[in-house]
Amino acid sequence: MRPGETGTEAGETALARTARVDLAAERDAAGIDELMASLDAELVGLHEVKDRIREVASLLLVDRVRQRFGVSSTRPNLHMCFTGNPGTGKTTVAMRMAGLLHRIGYLERGHLVAVTRDDLVGQYVGHTAPKTKEVLKRAMGGVLFIDEAYYLYRAENERDYGQESIEILLQVMENQREDVVVILAGYGDRMAEFFRSNPGMSSRVAHHVEFGDYDLDELRSIAELMSEQDGYRLGREAVEVMRELLDEQRAQPRFANARTVRNMLERARLRHASRIVDTQDDCGLDDLVRLEPVDFKP
Ligand SMILES: Nc1ncnc2c1ncn2[C@@H]1O[C@H](COP(=O)(O)OP(=O)(O)O)[C@@H](O)[C@H]1O
Ligand SMILES: [Mg+2]
Repeated sequence: MRPGETGTEAGETALARTARVDLAAERDAAGIDELMASLDAELVGLHEVKDRIREVASLLLVDRVRQRFGVSSTRPNLHMCFTGNPGTGKTTVAMRMAGLLHRIGYLERGHLVAVTRDDLVGQYVGHTAPKTKEVLKRAMGGVLFIDEAYYLYRAENERDYGQESIEILLQVMENQREDVVVILAGYGDRMAEFFRSNPGMSSRVAHHVEFGDYDLDELRSIAELMSEQDGYRLGREAVEVMRELLDEQRAQPRFANARTVRNMLERARLRHASRIVDTQDDCGLDDLVRLEPVDFKP
């Protein structure tokens, strides 16, 4: 069976009860190790998150092999909840998860549709159901990522249209599991509160993944990885300056983990360009790719 196919196709006979299956070869065929290696290379830290992804991959692989033996079971529930502060990698990992689920044959398309309350809930009577259904239609075959999902529920207003959207989502999450995987994301405490008020939602989400804040060394590695991917080099002094700035910013309320790193690099890139255009008539490759400490100074 090729990766991407699921289950026993019509007309295909199940494996004999005594047959043996080489799980390593199956894993290889589905490209799981390759995918995990690229996750390791492209995402700094997040060890627990990566472990959870590995678990899901194993679950699906085993499910697939069981089907080949003709063992019937309901498809595993893959709806998830990603909690953590801004910039900790939730959206990025959700995209990777969608790719994995496609690769292993769970999802037909493996794309990600990212939405918030405003995309699902209307302002007037009768607007919410069509809006939610339209979004679900777009997400079919992929992952529906609902950012700050708790805004769907407003405790203070019983007649809030968000409730209508939740009901529709619940039905699809229950009855069309193999068509769409829903990932709810947001701050941990607010999500916990949301689940307390919405037991139906809570019972349909099987996987809870927590994204912790990055420590200073991880932020530095993220900076190095991002600049490398963008074709820039950070000298030792530039790294040191950046580290100090990140340490200061960590205490600020608007700090957003890896997103702050990205913004800092964007700004440095702008300064770097102005600096070399303004001061250097003669410029070589090294000048074009090297970010200096002065490019980071506030
Ligand atoms: N562990 C990581 N390693 C490298 N880059 C990361 C990591 N986590 C996040 N990023 C980058 O930081 C930015 C913000 O991440 P994102 O997934 O949007 O965070 P969130 O959805 O949690 O707010 C993106 O550009 C992403 O590629
Ligand atoms: Mg996000």
